[in-house]
Amino acid sequence: MEDIIRYLHDRFALNASIFDETFLERTITNRMNFSSCKSTGDYLIQLNKVPSEAVSLIDSLTNSYSEFFRNPLTFSLIKQVIFPRIFEKKDTLYNHDIRIWSAGCAAGQEAYSLAMLALDYIQEHQLTTSFRIFATDISARQIESARNGVYDLKAVYNTNQGLLNSYFTVKGQSYAISERLKKYVDFSCYDLLDKNTIAPPSSIFGGFDIIMCCNVLFYYKPDIQKDILNKLSLSLNMDGFLLTGEAEIAIVRNEQNLRQFVLPSTVFMKRA
Ligand SMILES: C[S@@+](CC[C@H](N)C(=O)[O-])C[C@H]1O[C@@H](n2cnc3c(N)ncnc32)[C@H](O)[C@@H]1O
Repeated sequence: MEDIIRYLHDRFALNASIFDETFLERTITNRMNFSSCKSTGDYLIQLNKVPSEAVSLIDSLTNSYSEFFRNPLTFSLIKQVIFPRIFEKKDTLYNHDIRIWSAGCAAGQEAYSLAMLALDYIQEHQLTTSFRIFATDISARQIESARNGVYDLKAVYNTNQGLLNSYFTVKGQSYAISERLKKYVDFSCYDLLDKNTIAPPSSIFGGFDIIMCCNVLFYYKPDIQKDILNKLSLSLNMDGFLLTGEAEIAIVRNEQNLRQFVLPSTVFMKRA
């Protein structure tokens, strides 16, 4: 594994040593099996011989899979429990916009799902409070797709017909996000491991009411997970909500500044 880590670093400036070891081993083993390589030595030869194999390995290590309303239970909690709390507080106390961060947003599926829910909530309750979603990813390619906002049927599979009618235009086999919805989401490239900032520069100051960071943490080693969680909790408002993926609940549970909101959900609150 060390040799492959060194190869990725030297040839592609990719630091694979920060990834979770099990994930790294599983991914490399899958690629080795796919290429019919019996040893890491054979696989290194393959990587040097077939340029497309290196691209496939890097793609597997930097998984960008996402879909709209990926974890329906989490989105249901946002609608039923989190929005009522956050919108009520903003309406009565500060009258500021609600600030949401989709951290590791891939091609924007999560950010647009949040935007649809928030817009529907505002309309349904005839609220004057508005919201802004800052959506970031390390991959410039993903951010470009997110700004483009065109998806296939598989990506929108969990989206109900009402939302599809209101916020998408169907073009042949593809579903394009409406310009009306795009206005609420600000996409930018940002590395969650950036040591110089606690929040994306596009958001100016952080101060988020809700952060969604799903299916990102588990790719990293425990000390890197800790750095990311520390950043997220620093940029979260007091009583703000952090939402993670199902597979990441145990990782976030260890974070001292956060407490699980309802057991056994993916929702955490910043401790006072
Ligand atoms: C598996 S996708 C998850 C997308 C979405 N959050 C979801 O749950 O469907 C993980 C995303 O995190 C991004 N990512 C991984 N490491 C990152 C980092 N250090 N900073 C910013 N984004 C990162 C990847 O580029 C990828 O688009």
